[in-house]
Amino acid sequence: MQTNAALVKEWQRVGDLLLQGKIEGIELNGITYHFTPKQKAFIDSQQRYCLFYGGFGSGKTFALLMKLILMSLCFPKNRILLGRQYLSDVTRALLPDLFEILPSNLYKYRVKDNIISFFNGSEIILMGLDAMQSGTESNIKKAQQKIKSLNLGAFFIDQLEEIDKEVFTALTTRLRRTNVPFRQGNMTCNPANFWAYKYFKKDTKKNTFLLQSSTMDNKENLTQDYIDDLLDHSDIWVERYVKGTWSPDILVDSIVFGKEYIAKLKAMVKKPLKVRQGCEIYEEYKISRSYQMGVDPSEGSVDPSSISVISSDGKKVAKYNGFITIPGLINKVQFLYEEYGHPLIIPESNAAGAALVEGIKDLRVYKRLQFNYREKRQTEKLGFWTDYQSKQALIANFQKLLRINYPKIYDENTIDEFMTFIWTDVARQKGAGAQRNYHDDDVMSTLLGYWKLSPEIVAIRAARKNYKPINKKFQYF
Ligand SMILES: Nc1ncnc2c1ncn2[C@@H]1O[C@H](COP(=O)(O)OP(=O)(O)OP(=O)(O)O)[C@@H](O)[C@H]1O
Ligand SMILES: [Mg+2]
Repeated sequence: MQTNAALVKEWQRVGDLLLQGKIEGIELNGITYHFTPKQKAFIDSQQRYCLFYGGFGSGKTFALLMKLILMSLCFPKNRILLGRQYLSDVTRALLPDLFEILPSNLYKYRVKDNIISFFNGSEIILMGLDAMQSGTESNIKKAQQKIKSLNLGAFFIDQLEEIDKEVFTALTTRLRRTNVPFRQGNMTCNPANFWAYKYFKKDTKKNTFLLQSSTMDNKENLTQDYIDDLLDHSDIWVERYVKGTWSPDILVDSIVFGKEYIAKLKAMVKKPLKVRQGCEIYEEYKISRSYQMGVDPSEGSVDPSSISVISSDGKKVAKYNGFITIPGLINKVQFLYEEYGHPLIIPESNAAGAALVEGIKDLRVYKRLQFNYREKRQTEKLGFWTDYQSKQALIANFQKLLRINYPKIYDENTIDEFMTFIWTDVARQKGAGAQRNYHDDDVMSTLLGYWKLSPEIVAIRAARKNYKPINKKFQYF
């Protein structure tokens, strides 16, 4: 390995061009590589966290390796972590490509230490990140300890979808090397359902740079038969794995409610008239309507709680969603109860719901009939008890209403949750629930709010009451 000052200088000059965004490609080992426009954008970005996602073969890993090489060669004494889930993925899948591109006189690979050291003092530390996220607690601690001793200029992770957010967060705290022009996390992924969707795309955090690329963006470097094979799949597959589209609805194979209905609801989205006590109001109380209120309670910090107020003409007129204690949630319920003329409250009574039901038992609360085996008779219980069967009934009820275009929902979060509300095998979810990393609280309170509410029933009730205003009137069905 050469350690010559002239070479260090030469690469530093390339570094200056890199910092100015003037590198279109690079010659290494006598081969000239041209970057695709997407690759160039990724390589040029000096944003703290860069994520390059997209279709198969769209040139993500190549761009990642090129940037890794440039940041090692252009900035002397840099220290960079290169990780994948397992160390064997790094050595088997990444290193052969890296060493094919990198001239052998520039580096030494210390196999035992898992370190690549360069002529200019830069080092790449190879790491299997799985040690930080699974296994015994003491192993996780050890791995985290090892990370804590690092002062990194950058970390590079290929296939971020395999990595827990906690690992990413731990690495972000290591980016504090001072002798390099910028510090950075560079990552790639395919469109998958995992935490980075929220972090980079949905609730974009600051200091992030997100870039999509399609297989077609890299077609110059691929063979036609490879592309033909990829295109020989269903539309949704091509959308995701060729075009690289990353959106919640494309990630889901078996959503509970039909896409066409969700699209119709989405078209209704609008801003609330106002927000009062943290509750979004979409339509004020009308004396000629009756109302129902669905409540999905949750214990404070784990999941949000959600309230949906539904009018007898099928509109979701108000909502609340937030991380809140049960006493706090009871206050919200009481507030909306007064605002909407004492609607029938349909709270889930499982788990955290028991305390909620206890707190609102003097209001008008939905009663379910429960068969008491010992006494061989039906008894009334407050609230909606969710089990596998009653959840199916709740879903079927809403599905029926969707078919007649009865529900009108205006808030975006509920619609988004519908898009990720799937049939699942996860025991806890009782047949259906949110995809991993998504919530379904707004869906659940909405389904509860529409429970057994339909135009016919509203009409029958109105008739029974001789067309008098029907608020406060329905209880059983
Ligand atoms: N600028 C380039 N010049 C030459 N070859 C390239 C270039 N970009 C990508 N390639 C080649 O194209 C092929 C696909 O690129 P790459 O492996 O980076 O895709 P990818 O997006 O990581 O795919 P996957 O999603 O399957 O991991 C590889 O053989 C790679 O070497
Ligand atoms: Mg790749």
